[in-house]
Amino acid sequence: MDKMALLLLISSLTVVFTLGHGSLPLVINTWPFKNATAAAWSTLQSGGSVLDAVERGCARCEMEQCDGSVGYGGSPDETGETTLDAMIINGDTMEVGAVADLRRIKNAISVARAVMEHTEHTLLVGESASVFAENMGFIAEDLTTNNSIQIFSQWLKGNCQPNYHKKVFPDPSKSCGPYKPRAAPRRNKRAHHGMMRSHDTIGMIALDEEGHLAAGTSTNGMTHKVPGRVGDSPIIGAGAYADSSAGGAAATGDGDVMMRFLPSYLAVELMRAGADPSAACKTAISRIKRHYSEFFGAIICANTTGHYGAACNKITGFSQFHYMVSNSESDTPLLKSVDCF
Ligand SMILES: *[C@@H]1O[C@H](CO)[C@@H](O)[C@H](O)[C@H]1NC(C)=O
Ligand SMILES: *[C@@H]1O[C@H](CO)[C@@H](O)[C@H](O)[C@H]1NC(C)=O
Ligand SMILES: *[C@@H]1O[C@H](CO)[C@@H](O)[C@H](O)[C@H]1NC(C)=O
Repeated sequence: MDKMALLLLISSLTVVFTLGHGSLPLVINTWPFKNATAAAWSTLQSGGSVLDAVERGCARCEMEQCDGSVGYGGSPDETGETTLDAMIINGDTMEVGAVADLRRIKNAISVARAVMEHTEHTLLVGESASVFAENMGFIAEDLTTNNSIQIFSQWLKGNCQPNYHKKVFPDPSKSCGPYKPRAAPRRNKRAHHGMMRSHDTIGMIALDEEGHLAAGTSTNGMTHKVPGRVGDSPIIGAGAYADSSAGGAAATGDGDVMMRFLPSYLAVELMRAGADPSAACKTAISRIKRHYSEFFGAIICANTTGHYGAACNKITGFSQFHYMVSNSESDTPLLKSVDCF
């Protein structure tokens, strides 16, 4: 993430340190992506469904590129291409639509919704997902921007550092690929986690007065990812989960690690069993910490009465996580903050 942009964004908003009071309707999303929250909130206010709210909220981020981690022109992979992952969940029916490694289509969250509404499938990937999107009427266009070209060419000039290969030849900590597997095991001292904070995501939960619940995610994944890499965002129970009878959750951070623990699913099940949203979020983070103490990640949780909370793993350079909330308490989205543990 562009730290400077984030700091500017945060200083332009008022941080409110409070526990989530329950009230409906509710929109909550990861990171200080205020316009996305506002777009979702105004969708609900004008009579849109919770699915409409999540779709418009995430689409706003895709259009504005939020901090560069969502939408076109960010996080180029090892070939310089930007590809998108997104998911949407209907917590009433448990219908889910998702796309991963989507190419050449800007509005990934709406393609995910089309997968949900116009197929019997849950997840479409890669080139085929793009063909599906075009058939559904989405416009194919280049997702490359001057900014993504710049990031990519700097990376090439710097011997393709960092990258996400290990136990390969040539030495990935010094050289570009292509790589072949290295037979003799040698200690790989390179820290795998927390070396980049480029892998953020919008994850959003919307809950209306009748208790309808939806959640969604959208991201362009990790900068310099190995082509084909899919993170946690489009994976149900990992990037987000929603069940109108229990609650919703959405996660952000080091998706490669986080998706191994289905943190959003875990948090929702804990809320179903009666856990407070903050406690549910904390337990989901703790579960990952047990194996990966240095992972970068955060999660937001909301229960069916509109109470909410968040948690994050404290590591060097990340001690507080910011997220946005809209509910009847305020006319404008509120910036919330939680101390990592
Ligand atoms: C949010 O929306 C306002 C008004 O449309 C716009 O001026 C601003 O640039 C947007 N913020 C971001 C971060 O895109
Ligand atoms: C992108 O770069 C090209 C060539 O350097 C330049 O002509 C163009 O104006 C730039 N576009 C933007 C949006 O900055
Ligand atoms: C949601 O969480 C709040 C705060 O812990 C709690 O008071 C409330 O009873 C919970 N709602 C449900 C439906 O469990």
